[in-house]
Amino acid sequence: MSVDQKMDCGRRRLLLATSAAGGALGVAAAVPFVASLTPSERAKAAGAPVEADISKLAPGEMMTVEWRGKPVWILHRTPEMLESLKKTDDRVSDPKSEKPMQPGYAQNEGRSIKPEYLVVVGICTHLGCSPSEKFKTGAESGMGADWPGGFLCPCHGSTFDLAGRVYKSKPAPTNLEVPPHKYLTDATLIIGEDGAA
Ligand code: FES
Repeated sequence: MSVDQKMDCGRRRLLLATSAAGGALGVAAAVPFVASLTPSERAKAAGAPVEADISKLAPGEMMTVEWRGKPVWILHRTPEMLESLKKTDDRVSDPKSEKPMQPGYAQNEGRSIKPEYLVVVGICTHLGCSPSEKFKTGAESGMGADWPGGFLCPCHGSTFDLAGRVYKSKPAPTNLEVPPHKYLTDATLIIGEDGAA
């Protein structure tokens, strides 16, 4: 196997699922991709950074990649979704992600390097359930007339906005985790590596 091939194995693409906004496909659709890997590939995949091609991720769509056995959501936010963050600023408990558990590039309103792309671990920070997409807004969402879109953890009712910020007075103690990540190009994200010391 050439060096290039080995590197390619190390950065095996782990794109698992893409779902349209409001669609039913979410983390539950993250099939156990590891079943198709050899034991040594599995070991590598367990810790290796993961490359995600976001070139076809349209505004309003979210995709899921698996990194270290966790689902990582990449949401391409529309201008309306970004606008909704202004409305939720005073409804969330840590609007600027100041709790010292997030990379510096998550300490802003959108919790992101690029405003339009949210990258978070799709695991509730309460007891580890998988929140569901609730991207519809208003009464149609079933979340109340003033729901601006976000995520709902069905286990104990924690709600998160479209930056993964937890609403006040909910069981989840912190915002959804932003994993280390960086952009290789405008179309390619690396999850699990950010170049920070
Ligand atoms: S695990 Fe999400 S609210 Fe409890």
